[in-house]
Amino acid sequence: MPDQATDETTIFRKSWTLYDSISEMNYMFHREIYAQITALLSRRRARGLYSILDLGCGNTRFIAPCLKTATPSRYVGVDLSEAALTEAFQYLKGLDNVALHHQDMLQAVQTTEASFDVIFSGYAVHHFDAKMKQDLFHACAAKLAKDGQFILVDMVREEGQTREQFIEGYLNFMRTQWTAVPPDHLEEACNHVAAYDFPETFSDLKRMAAAASLTNVRLLDRFAQHHILVFSA
Ligand SMILES: C[S@@+](CC[C@H](N)C(=O)[O-])C[C@H]1O[C@@H](n2cnc3c(N)ncnc32)[C@H](O)[C@@H]1O
Repeated sequence: MPDQATDETTIFRKSWTLYDSISEMNYMFHREIYAQITALLSRRRARGLYSILDLGCGNTRFIAPCLKTATPSRYVGVDLSEAALTEAFQYLKGLDNVALHHQDMLQAVQTTEASFDVIFSGYAVHHFDAKMKQDLFHACAAKLAKDGQFILVDMVREEGQTREQFIEGYLNFMRTQWTAVPPDHLEEACNHVAAYDFPETFSDLKRMAAAASLTNVRLLDRFAQHHILVFSA
């Protein structure tokens, strides 16, 4: 019989592997989105060296090539999944000044003594409830260096759409578009979304950012429900 710790590791590895194959099939527009992140970071790099904190970095499969093009002076990734972080070390090979922390991302921003030119988060913040998202905006605003940017890639609800309506629409999108995912894996992914996804509307995110003095907000692009937002003071 596996002990509880082994069991939890297996579950983390299994759900991580499922997400990794979904992103490889580009069902959440990782290719288009991370091409834009490369362009954004390259423009930042052209202005000088920059440091970057990545919240919910996962295995860094998609951010790593961006970093290799627009090399930062320092990259810090934070994630709760040890399985993902183990893979991240491989994807980040060749980059200097890399640190990976097995930690809650809100705690990480709140407790770090460093400041960052860029704080990035891809598809992780929608797991937070509204209060935690507000706390995250406050913490990010406090840890951004002068002229710093908080770049958020995430699912966003339409204005006036309830969470239930969003989930219904997203599950329909998954069941009709994610055709190469085996049915039992698709159901596992749908259950995960229904239980853990709490996306906000763009205006709610803007309001939270403004409350944290991040009053400059840009919707850089969107691909269906998947948005790229840039916040700065
Ligand atoms: C959907 S994956 C996104 C991975 C990658 N950033 C991307 O864009 O593909 C979400 C990641 O956030 C991590 N995560 C979720 N909640 C977290 C938290 N409170 N603190 C740190 N990591 C968290 C998960 O472990 C997972 O690796």
